[in-house]
Amino acid sequence: MSLQDFLSDLDKLVQEASAAFDAVTDAESLEVARVRYVGQKSGALRDIQKQISKIEPSDRKAAGMRFNESKAAIQDAFNDCKQRLGQGEAAAIDPTFDPTLPGLRPIVGHIHPITQTIEHLMEIMGRMGFEAAEGPEVEDPWHNFVALNIPEDHPARDPLDNFYLATANQNGVEPVSEGNQLLRSQTSTVQIRVMEKQKPPIRVISLGRVYRPDAPDATHFPMFHQMEGLFVDRHVTMANLKTVLRVFAANYLGDDVAIRFRPSFFPFTEPSVEVDFFWNDAWVEFGGAGMVDPNVFEAVGYDPEQYSGFAFGLGVERLCMRRHGITDIRDLYSGDLRFLRQF
Ligand code: DAH
Repeated sequence: MSLQDFLSDLDKLVQEASAAFDAVTDAESLEVARVRYVGQKSGALRDIQKQISKIEPSDRKAAGMRFNESKAAIQDAFNDCKQRLGQGEAAAIDPTFDPTLPGLRPIVGHIHPITQTIEHLMEIMGRMGFEAAEGPEVEDPWHNFVALNIPEDHPARDPLDNFYLATANQNGVEPVSEGNQLLRSQTSTVQIRVMEKQKPPIRVISLGRVYRPDAPDATHFPMFHQMEGLFVDRHVTMANLKTVLRVFAANYLGDDVAIRFRPSFFPFTEPSVEVDFFWNDAWVEFGGAGMVDPNVFEAVGYDPEQYSGFAFGLGVERLCMRRHGITDIRDLYSGDLRFLRQF
């Protein structure tokens, strides 16, 4: 092989290789070009180097020198190309981002313990076939009192014991009257709302807020929640009431719970009882219950000769506090995350 031919092959290769490296756009095409032109095993440089032995011995030195120059030129083109790609990658990364720093754990919110309790109570009662019903928190005296057999002169209607809403006319705010709307003082209102719309059989619970102007202390708060229950059908008895409440308590507090009824009075039930559960060595009162008073059935147009039913109203905060060992109702509404994060 003549020196002339060798050098022209060499020049062609350098041109071809630098054009190839110029055309590279990503790591993949860079690797293809690298193997082809500078690869140690099968690269074009290696092939051309083998030709040197076929050149006249007197020309070999010159050939070797030109080969080394060309090899360096191709290697430079490869290095330039590699740097060009690497700079592109580096520029795409935010220079202030330090991947070695530990991450920030996202803050996950909590469901409020009272909401958790409400969901739990609905699930337990749902398994016994009770459906959830709702009523408004701003009520009229008919649903909060009259239909529940609480007559006009009854002390439960006293403005000092209820949040009546003020009304206003051109002369300003009028004195609060017992005929005004009010924030409901009990979820028993929902009994009336359900029976006004549906015929028996009825099997509902209603879980919601009630309001009373009590000064806050460890066991009182001006807003709290009740679970109201109402069951109406033919031949419903007090034994049914006691069974439902016992099964409920066993599911919510545990199998070792006992139930006790103490005679009491509520205008909307006859007979009426206070409901106590025995758990963790103590009897605790959780609410009231009884057989629906015939006057209540008459107020909603049910025939008390055909139907009977039971009703109950339990304090949701009390249930929640007893189960979780909470001793101050105000903790539930303080918004203190150190308390709330425990649930
Ligand atoms: N509404 C009563 C209260 O707030 C609780 C209650 C007692 C509800 C007896 C009932 C019931 O349904 O039958 O004190």
